[in-house]
Parts: sequence; C-alpha cells; structure tokens
Amino acid sequence: MPGFPQIRPRRLRATPAVRSLLSETRVHPHDLVAPLFVVEGRGVRRAIPSLPGQFHYSVERLEAEAAALFELGVPAVLLFGLPAPREKTPDARRAAAPDGVVQRAVARLKARVPGLLVVTDVCLCEYTSHGHCGLLEGDGRARPGSGREARILNDPSLEALARVAVSHADAGADWVAPSDMMDGRVAALRAALDEAGHSGVGILSYAAKAASAFYGPFREAAASAPAFGDRRSHQMDPANGREALREIALDLGEGADMVMVKPALPCLDLIARARDRFDAPLAAYSVSGEYSMAHAAAQRGWGDLEALRDETLTAVKRAGADVLVTYWARSFAESFRRRRGLD
Ligand code: PBG
Repeated sequence: MPGFPQIRPRRLRATPAVRSLLSETRVHPHDLVAPLFVVEGRGVRRAIPSLPGQFHYSVERLEAEAAALFELGVPAVLLFGLPAPREKTPDARRAAAPDGVVQRAVARLKARVPGLLVVTDVCLCEYTSHGHCGLLEGDGRARPGSGREARILNDPSLEALARVAVSHADAGADWVAPSDMMDGRVAALRAALDEAGHSGVGILSYAAKAASAFYGPFREAAASAPAFGDRRSHQMDPANGREALREIALDLGEGADMVMVKPALPCLDLIARARDRFDAPLAAYSVSGEYSMAHAAAQRGWGDLEALRDETLTAVKRAGADVLVTYWARSFAESFRRRRGLD
C-alpha cells in the first residue's frame, strides 16, 4: 500500500468542483417530512417561542404552509394537534373526535393539497389532562412526588390509541405515526385500521424512541409535558442500543411499514445499526431540542445556522436514514431552491 507522498487525500478536496463530484451524501427536499402544529381557532399563525421559525396554525392557515412546503418539494407533513386546554380529559377522548383539530386539518389538506402525504402523530399526551401518553390507573390525580403516582396502563391505552388512529384515517390521513411507546400498539393500530377498512393507511412507527431531554421545546410547543412523573416507564433508556434494535424488530413484526429512530443526532449509532440490520424504510426525527439548540447557538454567534442545519441533516442521512423528520424542512427546501451551482 503506497502512502504519503504518493497518496495525498487533499487532491480530492482541492476545488468546489471536485468536492461536489465526490460528495457521498446529499440531502434533498424530497427526503424531508415537516412537523406542523395545528390549533383551534381561526386566522391563527402564532410563533412558538421555544421553536424559532415554527408556528401554531389554525386549520385554514395550516393549509397555506403545507401548500408552500409541497411546492418547495417537501412531500410529507407530520401533524400534531393541540386541543383547547378545556378539552383535555384524563381519558383523552377529544383525540379521537371526528371534529377534532387534527381530523379537520387532515380533511382540509387532503382536499386542498391532494398530492401531499399527510402523516399524523398518534399519541394521547396532548389530549390528556395529566399529559401522559397513555391512560392512567385510577383518576390520574395522584399527588406529584408522592411516589404513588398512577401507573400508565398499557392495554387500555391501546384501545384509545387505535380509536385515534382510525379517526385520523377516517379523515383521510395517508399514514399514522404512533409515538406513545406502548407495547403492542402497532399490532393494535393495524388491526383496528384494517377492521375499519383502512388497509391502505400506512404505519410509521416511532419504534426506537428514547426518553430524551431533547424533547423540551416540543413539550412547550405542544403543551404536552406530564403534570407529574416522566416518560421513562414507556420511552426507552437512551443507554440501550440493543433494546432499540429489538423494539424496531418487534414493530416490524407487528406490521409497521416504516420505522423511526428518535432523537436523531444523539442516536446516529442506532440509525446506522438499524440501517444495517433491517431493509424496511428508516426515518429519523431530528427533534425539537436539536433544532432549538442550533438556533440558540446561532443567536449567540456561536455557529452559522444554515451550516449547523445542513451538517445535522447530512449526518443523519449519512448514518442511514432514508427519511428525515425535521423542523428545518422549509428552511432547507428554500435554501435548496436558492442554491445555484455546485454544492
Ligand atoms: C408525543 C411526541 C413527542 C415528540 C413527538 N411526539 C413528545 C414526547 O414524547 O414527550 C417529540 C418531538 C420533538 O421533540 O420534536 N409523545
């Protein structure tokens, strides 16, 4: 094997042309899914303080944003609904209401932006008065910190989640994306969807979802922080890589069409291992904390926002994700369109 001075890797980096020719990983707007938050009301487009550049939209304002994303080449959106605070109940019944905010948003987007792939997040946490992802034992009003907080019930939560998924499919959702991390939810959703005549509706499972500190800005945006306790009895320990692969295998076995690793940057190793092991389409969710952290750094002059964005998305794709769920979808797609010449 020859070495230096015959071999000079810098020859392969010498000019923009050679760098462009040899770039191994390119992010394209077609790789992206844009998360969007939909709220009750009319004419609402309210900035979300914890997620700079992101907004709460009422249904009709959401349409304009989704249409703009689609026109920029972003093929899919992932919808999160925020009910009115008074609509939250211990059993999250509003989450499955046919006139709920997500259901109305889905129907409108499918009517007005028909080519767009509409994916809905399926979880109870935005709709429960206690902010947990499932139903609680008892009335869910145990004293915080008492050590006797109500446990999250698995199997009764599956029924509630299945009702939510079917209500989204009834409204016209193309895919549903369960993010609750209850055991058996993919099988429960698949059975309920098929039973309701929605065998064409896909399941994008948040299969390997860690109990991550990087969801902080989202919980402010979605008003979904748990009133007490945490999510560690259902979301995964970030320390566990083999367990993440097992969760993915289980979800694929239950009929998930596509699986997701979340968060993205802290889990690049899991994305790479999942890519090696499974041939199913693989998504990664670059979560709120990853996005807001880059914004916070850029605001202080500690990094260039677009460079941080591009490096983040490229890293997640290089690790092996086919699909990138990211709050940067619009900003990336706009930069992509503006870009001229070599990249
Ligand atoms: C709902 C849900 C969460 C996220 C996606 N779906 C919050 C959580 O699990 O606490 C996080 C997304 C983000 O941080 O961008 N369960």
